[in-house]
Formats: sequence, structure tokens, C-alpha cells
Amino acid sequence: MVLIHIAILSVLFLLLEATLQKFPPNFKFGASTSAYQIEGAWNVSDKSVNIWDDYTHSSPNLVGDGSTGDIACDSYHQWRRDVQMAKELGLHFYRFSISWSRLLPQGFANEVSADGKKYYNDLIDALLKSGIEPVVTLYHMDLPMRLQNLGGWANPLISDWFSSYARVAYSLYADRVKTWVTINDPMVTCDGGYSGLMAPDIRSPDVGSYLCSKNVLLAHAKAWRMYDREFRPKYYGQISVANQIIWFQGEKKGDDELAELLMQNSVGRFSHPIYSKEGGWPSSLEKIIAENSKKEGHSKSRLPAFTREEIELVRGTFDFYGVNHYTSRVVRRTRPGEKIGAWPLWGSTEFDAVLDSRPEWTATAISWMKLNPKGFRDSLVWLKKQYGDISYMVLENGYPDSGAGLNEQAKRNFFKDYLTQLYFAIRRDKVNVTGYAAWSLMDSFEWTQGYTSKFGLYQVDFTDPQRPRKARSSALYYASIIANNGLGT
Ligand code: NOJ
Repeated sequence: MVLIHIAILSVLFLLLEATLQKFPPNFKFGASTSAYQIEGAWNVSDKSVNIWDDYTHSSPNLVGDGSTGDIACDSYHQWRRDVQMAKELGLHFYRFSISWSRLLPQGFANEVSADGKKYYNDLIDALLKSGIEPVVTLYHMDLPMRLQNLGGWANPLISDWFSSYARVAYSLYADRVKTWVTINDPMVTCDGGYSGLMAPDIRSPDVGSYLCSKNVLLAHAKAWRMYDREFRPKYYGQISVANQIIWFQGEKKGDDELAELLMQNSVGRFSHPIYSKEGGWPSSLEKIIAENSKKEGHSKSRLPAFTREEIELVRGTFDFYGVNHYTSRVVRRTRPGEKIGAWPLWGSTEFDAVLDSRPEWTATAISWMKLNPKGFRDSLVWLKKQYGDISYMVLENGYPDSGAGLNEQAKRNFFKDYLTQLYFAIRRDKVNVTGYAAWSLMDSFEWTQGYTSKFGLYQVDFTDPQRPRKARSSALYYASIIANNGLGT
């Protein structure tokens, strides 16, 4: 009898939960963008050239539709409309990035652009006036070309250049900006940028991407520590890095170990040094790259070692964990003679792995992005298992349309399915996720896809010089989720 009562109560509870699906009371919803993808005004005022200006101008064939971010959404001029859109959606926060080459045209902190400074000041003030919290990313893939010419992320001095830039940004805006992201997607910056998939298009996946990985971590750590020492006592903000989490799972049971190794390579490489108790590279990664390097005749591992001091410098430099999630992969070892696709999309030479998707995962306008909502929940559970019960903030998650016919139902379904999995991760798996940002507030320059993939809640007309924006029906749906603080009614 008691058992029957318990069973009935459990079913009632599940039904109630399914109808309400409320997020925790202080949960924050937002939307994200990044400077190069939306600002345009690439040469307005004293802004200097960055690696994406250079890449799109010098190698137009590298971007699918031959486009550039020269004008993009023209947010440099249309920022008032952007703030209005954020308000229409009822966003709690808007995440945007500062263009390093707009704020510091020389790349170095000796010269601050008056116009650059004013642009971000105006944007921040307008957001706050509308009751929207600004969340600011310092680096979102757009290194000043001047610094790239000096070695960019492969030059160890960059950690000092970056922290000097960070000090300027904190000094100007930390009185009003309380949440900062130092570096967006270090894995994409280092592996994409050093494998021929993204600017600066340096093809050195076996050495360059690891040098970059170490320098990115040191840059983040120095910028975090400086905030902690000089700004936190006055402004009480929070600051972390945002990592790209692709969910890797074994194709068959026997492939699970390989999948775990790929998680360590793509996520652990940028998280273990910061979030684990012991710091430093994940040991499984360190071991394999050292072995591979030895076999290839290198005198040292291609993965540069951290000194004891560097391990301590990086360890613990976080206030939350920033999650960008888009897709999943199944993995297996290569078969004899099989060609390995490009990392991190389709394969890894380092780990002798082939990456693929499952037939049941829905395709999108971007070939690398297949939908597996459950992979979102699995990623969050994996993170909690690795790095503990800290707070997690989803800073990017979104769905690309091709734009033809605007398949709105698919984008609405995307938000419904992914937010349901997020809800389960929070309520059932007890992952402490405090916020979620949709990528993106509006259609924008989607790197090598140009303007063909449309992630926007707002549609942008790129044929009109004014770049008018229009809410999609998915924007209204997202706004209703925010207003309800959940998916139910
Ligand atoms: C993550 C990147 O941070 C963002 O710039 C990009 O547009 C999205 N992925 C979608 O590819």
C-alpha cells in the first residue's frame, strides 16, 4: 500500500515537474555576441587591423561566401538598437566582447583610443540604464595584427600584453561591469587558429596549438590575479574563462576511453590547469603527447611543460566555469589506411581518432553542428564530476539556420530541447548552473561560414546599409521562457 502511494506521488511529481519546469529563482538569462562578428567599422577612427580583418581581406576564399566583417551588423553605429533588442527580450544580461584593436590601436596599453573607450562606455551605460547586466569578454578571437606579427599567442610575452590590456579595460569599466570573461574558447583560438581552420591561419597543429594553449592559460591567469588583487577589493566582480565543450562519446563501449581522452584534450587542456586541485596539464594528455613527441624524434614533449610557479600561478584562477556548448561527436580509432579529418571537427592525428555523428542527430545549416540535446546535459555532468560543485554559467548555446525560409520551428525546438536538458542537469543532476546565454542576439559574421549560418534571435538584413534587425518567432519564444523563468506554462 505504502509503495503504491509512493509510486503515485512520484508520477504526480514528475507530471508537475514536466508542466512547470521552472529554473531556480535567481537564474539569469542572456544573449551573447562578439566584437568582430557584429561591430563592423573595421577602420573607423583609430581602430587598427586585427587578425580577422587581415584574414578576410587577404584570403577571401577562406570564408565560404567570400564575405568580411568590415560592416557586419554595424553595431558600432547601431548599438542603441542592440540594447533595445536585449530589452525587448527581457534579458538579464548581455554578453559582448571588447575589440582589443579598437580600444588599444597599438595593441599595447600605452595608447588608449578615445573613440574605442567611448563606444564601450556608451554601450555599458545604456545596458545598465535598461536594467541589463553587461557581461564582458576581453578576447574573442580578434588579436591585433601588430601583436600577431610579433608572434601572437605563440609568443610567451603575450600573457603580459594581455594582462596590460585587461588592466586598461578593468580601469575603465570595472566600476560597472561585474562579470568578465578573459578569453573565449581557448581551444578554438589555439586549435582552430593553428590548424588552418580560422585566423591567423598558421598551420602548426602539432606545436603551435600547444604553445598557444600554454600562453592562453598564463594570460588568463595573470589577468585574473590582477583583477583579484587590484580591482576585486573595490568592485567585487567575478571573472573566468569560457570553454568550448564538445561532448565526445565512444562509438562503441570499447571506445569510451578514447572519448575521455578527447574530452581531456579539448576541455581538460584548458580546465585542469585552472579548476583541478593539483593544477597543470591533465596527466593522460601529458603522457600521450610526450610519447608521441619521443617517437617522432623530438628532444622534448611538444606540449610545453609548466614550471612549478606557473602551475601555482594558473591554479584556482576562477570565480565560475563558463560553458559554450554546441554539438557532440562519437569517436573511434582509425582503421588501417583511413584518412583522418580535421581536428576538432572530424578527427585527431595526435590521438589517432575519427570523429563522427550519429544518424539520429539532426543536421543544421553548419556541417559540424549536429543536434544532440542530451550531450549538453552529459557535458555539464562531466564537468561537475571533473571540477566539482562550483558554479557554472552557460555563456553560449545556439542554433544556426540557413536563412532560406527561416525554419523557425527548428530554432524554437532547439531552445526547448536544449533548455529541457539544462533543466534536468540543474534539477536532477544538481549541477549548479546559474545562467544561460543564447548565441546569438542577432545574425552575425559566422567566421568561415560568413553570413550563411544564422544563429540570431533577431534577423539582420545584410543587404540594407542600415542593417535593420527583426525579431524572429524564436526570439518571442525565448522571451516567453525568460518571462516564465522556465519552459512550462
Ligand atoms: C563559438 C564562438 O564563440 C562564436 O564566436 C561562434 O559564432 C559560435 N561558436 C558558433 O559557431
